Amino acid sequence: MFKGFGRSQRASAAAVEQPALDVKPRHIGLIMDGNGRWAQQRGLPRIAGHHAGMLAMKEAIRACDDFGIECVTLYAFSTENWKRPAAEVDYLMRLPEQFFRSEIDELVRRNVRVRFIGDTERLPTHTQETVRRAIQCTQHNTGMIVNFALNYGGRMEIVAAMERYAREVMEGRATVGQLTEATCDRYLDTAGLPPLDLVIRTSGEIRLSNFLLWQAAYAELWFTDVLWPDFTRDDLYQAICDYAKRKRRFGAIE
Ligand code: FPP
Repeated sequence: MFKGFGRSQRASAAAVEQPALDVKPRHIGLIMDGNGRWAQQRGLPRIAGHHAGMLAMKEAIRACDDFGIECVTLYAFSTENWKRPAAEVDYLMRLPEQFFRSEIDELVRRNVRVRFIGDTERLPTHTQETVRRAIQCTQHNTGMIVNFALNYGGRMEIVAAMERYAREVMEGRATVGQLTEATCDRYLDTAGLPPLDLVIRTSGEIRLSNFLLWQAAYAELWFTDVLWPDFTRDDLYQAICDYAKRKRRFGAIE
């Protein structure tokens, strides 16, 4: 069985103490991209990149909590990722189990609540079981929300929301003509989460790739060439500092 490889020098360098953040996003979305290229650069199999990506994800979650972020949504597996070779998909479907086996105690200690968005009912049974257990173990926690997007696609989420709304209309629980942007929110997988303020994408790609399409309408976007397994607490801090400098006008003028 593949045991995994450590992160690079850059990623494992001790983080410098960062000053407290005055302005910070409530909800951060992370598009964790570049695992495959990270592995390729080292002559390793792609799954080694995903393993290192999981280690980077652990650090990012810790850092978000330490920085006082209310919610972080992690793009772990998209609806398009099923097109990858079966062995890679199988490895990715086993990562949650590996992750929660080592992390659940710390997440509980940190008062973190775990949530999932996406169609988790189509995941393999063993992954669904892990998802169910993680939600159950943390359901009474009141601290940061760690929200995994697993078998998630923004368009699929919007279609599912339309279906839910149509069903309510058919059953007489909603009325046509009364739908607003605010009421739309409650049909989405992210219902109840704080508004998305900042989306971070690693690996030099500059697109959303079907991630939180509705929610990202007014989010700030932050891109870096760093490959996900090399992403550090310092990078996250930098992203938040840059966010704090942005002028968010939401379409208004000053
Ligand atoms: C994209 O990199 C990354 C993924 C498809 C998987 C991301 C998942 C993790 C970091 C860990 C998930 C863990 C849990 C517990 C849910 P890529 O493979 O597309 O990289 P490339 O563009 O360089 O090929």
